[in-house]
Amino acid sequence: MKHLLTPLLLLFTVATFAQTTWFNDKDLTLTGVYYYPEHWNENQWERDFKQMRDLGFEFTHFAEFAWAQLEPEEGKYDFDWLDRAVALAAKYNLKVVMCTSTATPPVWMSRKYPEILVKYEDGTIREHGARQHASFASPLYRELSFKMIEKLAQHYGNDKRIVGWQLDNEPEVQFDFNPAAELGFRDFLRKKYSRIEELNNAWGTTFWSQVYASFDEIKLPRTKQLFMNHHQILDYRRFAASQTNDFLNEQALLIKKYARNQWITTNYIPNYDEGHIGGSSALDFQSYTRYMVYGDNEGIGRRGYRVGNPLRIAKANDFFRPIQGTYGVMELQPGQVNWGSINPQPLPGAVRLWMWSVFAGGSDFVCAYRFRQPLYGTEQYHYGIVGTDGVTVTDGGREYQQFINEIKLLRKHYAPREEKPADYVARKTAILCNHENAWSIDKQKQNRTWNTEQHIDKYYRSLKSFGAPVDFITEDKELNDYPVVIVPAYQLVDEALVKRWEKYVEQGGNLVLTCRTGHKDRFGRLLEAPFRSVIDKVACNKLDFFDLLLPHDPGMVQMNGKPYTWNTWGEILIPAAGAETWATYQEEYYAGTPAITFSKLGKGTVTYVGVDSSNGDLEADVLKQLYARLNIPVMNLPYGVTLEYRNGFCIVLNYSDKPYTFDLPTGAQVLIGKKEIPTAGVLVFK
Ligand code: GAL
Repeated sequence: MKHLLTPLLLLFTVATFAQTTWFNDKDLTLTGVYYYPEHWNENQWERDFKQMRDLGFEFTHFAEFAWAQLEPEEGKYDFDWLDRAVALAAKYNLKVVMCTSTATPPVWMSRKYPEILVKYEDGTIREHGARQHASFASPLYRELSFKMIEKLAQHYGNDKRIVGWQLDNEPEVQFDFNPAAELGFRDFLRKKYSRIEELNNAWGTTFWSQVYASFDEIKLPRTKQLFMNHHQILDYRRFAASQTNDFLNEQALLIKKYARNQWITTNYIPNYDEGHIGGSSALDFQSYTRYMVYGDNEGIGRRGYRVGNPLRIAKANDFFRPIQGTYGVMELQPGQVNWGSINPQPLPGAVRLWMWSVFAGGSDFVCAYRFRQPLYGTEQYHYGIVGTDGVTVTDGGREYQQFINEIKLLRKHYAPREEKPADYVARKTAILCNHENAWSIDKQKQNRTWNTEQHIDKYYRSLKSFGAPVDFITEDKELNDYPVVIVPAYQLVDEALVKRWEKYVEQGGNLVLTCRTGHKDRFGRLLEAPFRSVIDKVACNKLDFFDLLLPHDPGMVQMNGKPYTWNTWGEILIPAAGAETWATYQEEYYAGTPAITFSKLGKGTVTYVGVDSSNGDLEADVLKQLYARLNIPVMNLPYGVTLEYRNGFCIVLNYSDKPYTFDLPTGAQVLIGKKEIPTAGVLVFK
């Protein structure tokens, strides 16, 4: 493969990025591991910490699910055992991440205050005996949580052995029907609309006699009831996300009252569409958890499920990092898990590959889930760094050790984080995202085969094959930082946002808008104007109409003489004067009409892609043509091979089922691996 990294372009650029203050950039990354002292005989703790230290781990992680041990009776706290564990960890130079354990309230609470329990939409109430059964919307649950957290923060906030805090565990949006959630929803709506008439207007309640006379008449929408008002559901989802966000935010603010030089984060599952990630402003940065091998064949080739989806970690990196400039990965599997429908062994080397993927995206730490394999409880068959005897290091544990040693080697070659080659930086691309678009589209898909995330992934996958650094950004971020901004299926807009897009292009930005953009306002209502006309000016076209085809019989679009198939969405466009037509429909009664247009506007360009192709080939070719037109140098990596830069290092990873030979630039110094990269192999050079 010939790529564009000439020695000249390897001259590094140093951006003026603010460095994260919580981590020392020279460490590159820290590596930690989960430990639950309460699961093990205390006389084994020291042996375990010593082994952690000997393997090279730098921090451990305590008290995540230990509320029953921390507050065995209401108001009676016991931190002595935890103090002893912290002291022993410190003896072996292990820093500690402390957790708030609000994912597992003790049984006395569920029995004494059953009103704290989550209620499902069908009325079922979650029961003690698992985890995550308490309602974030319950003021009482919050109060009980804050009492315990305040004690913990008073006790550990000024303790140098504690480096940071993890709030709750994998906090999700609960979609909780607890009566407290209903009251909370009404308050949320009162604040948002102040007068009931405004709410009626926003929700279009004159339709089908849904009009409300007061906020007190409003209930949580039955999301499974056919035809339930989808404007109401949109607000309910916003409310539900805010419950998780507020709960975490309040926890963080409380800890900050006592914490000295300790960071606060939580460990989100990258459920991008739930709308809560990044929504708790008091967190210092965001972390995520990631599992790669659990039975679903998302990898490449016959046994690709042993390696995992090549972009699964990359995408989480690119989603979490832009929120606050850094991120950590709080959980990564060290081997077989127990909760998949099928739980295969990862391919030897895959665990190390994933750690390198985490690192490549710019993370500050990675933490193994977990040190010891549990002997009892829900996660019995889940691998650890050591096996059931507590001492034998697993293959995955050895891969952690290898990674840690490799990072130690790289630390000797340290360069500042933002040292990256000019051609890599030149192809930096943003994808503008707002989960509310997917929520809104999902309620009125128009074509059951439409999938917003898959639509976005078609662009993302192409960008990663270019070797481009990608940021998923939210509307509060600066568009001008990116030569190209992709705005996929952005259904909900307002004039201010569209004006920002126009300005970005006028000032020289290159905007890619895709189908379904600009149809509705933020309440999810169509605008009283020609359909989609709010974006006509910036799109440099008008939307005549859109068509949808049945899955078994795709339609045809042609670009540069090459055919592509499509089903889910096709917009028939009327280009503005001066706009170029890049692709046209080949069939149906509208054969020959434009599907993709490209225009110069002000100092920039606008590419409008009105069609969603069957397999993403069209999206890839559109972006190739665009970047060529803009003289942005791109690579041509096969699917499964990823490349990123950080700290002056280039990290090339092979998730594919074949060896891949990387064409090293002249003068490159290989630090890890070889230019022939086997499956699950890693190449690092500078
Ligand atoms: C995660 C969870 C952990 C543990 C792990 C097992 O989703 O956050 O607490 O259950 O799965 O793989």
